[in-house]
Amino acid sequence: MSFTFRNFPTARDDLRADVLAGLAASPKSIPPKYFYDETGSRLFEAICAQPEYVLNRTEQALMTARLTDIAAAIGPVDCIVEPGAGDCAKVRRLLDALHPAHLVVLDIAGAALAMAAETLSNDYPTLGVTALGMDFIHDLETATPWLPAGRRLIYYPGSSIGNFPPDAAIALLARFRQLAGEDGGLLIGFDLKKDPLRLHAAYNDTAGITAAFNLNLLARLNRELDADFNQAHFRHYAFYNPVEGRIEMHLVSLAEQDVSVAGEPVHFTLGETLHTEHSYKFRCDEFSALAQTAGWQPTSEWEHDGFAVQLYR
Ligand code: AVJ
Repeated sequence: MSFTFRNFPTARDDLRADVLAGLAASPKSIPPKYFYDETGSRLFEAICAQPEYVLNRTEQALMTARLTDIAAAIGPVDCIVEPGAGDCAKVRRLLDALHPAHLVVLDIAGAALAMAAETLSNDYPTLGVTALGMDFIHDLETATPWLPAGRRLIYYPGSSIGNFPPDAAIALLARFRQLAGEDGGLLIGFDLKKDPLRLHAAYNDTAGITAAFNLNLLARLNRELDADFNQAHFRHYAFYNPVEGRIEMHLVSLAEQDVSVAGEPVHFTLGETLHTEHSYKFRCDEFSALAQTAGWQPTSEWEHDGFAVQLYR
């Protein structure tokens, strides 16, 4: 029917300001949303194909097996909104089951999103597709004028919510309520707490793809912020922290070293960490409490092999 793409690119100034602020903090850190440049988006898709990283495959197996039940629980919707849609692969299953008139996909990686959404639009000729290249964490309001009227379902799969510490997760879920509108719904997938050795393996794949994904952040800073990181001087280090209930990903400095980032000197001591990601794991009841704090009413939940999908209104 129609395909619309608008790009609201993350200003280079935002990247610069976020990175310099993160590097000035203690411990040093960089927000995980900056993983997803073109190479990072490709590496993430490669992670999802690794034998140890079953998260996305498990979710899609669950969605396939329970689709009829899930669609019935959701009921009729006019529009699906997917923040962080990436390659737009996951939402196809829902489109086939729910037949909404509109789809709105948002992603910080605008160029990759535009290609994926246009392909999807060709495959669903009667669907109105709007793709917005934007940082939905900061600028969710930017999306508001693009939302069609009617009943909206926010789809947030893949445990993307796990990147946010509990307070930030609640804040984001509360903002999703504004995207959903009065009569809206939320279908959200998240990774469950499980054997820490299974979790550990998922972020330490033997092919080294997760390590490459983590280190690619340094290549991005070299290119986009004129930095001079040497990837060989940092170690990808990921582990499950059972006290906090999260995987932590770090880049640990293998030497005392000085780096220049956007013209600013940055010093690393031997063993100092640059923290790059949290990936929280939940129990169903824990997550449900978070969502309810954000104002969502639980409707149904489905669970399969260490992964859960919950529906809210
Ligand atoms: C896309 C945030 C769900 O936390 O598992 C995968 C990202 N990082 N391997 C996750 C990721 C390292 C992923 N999320």
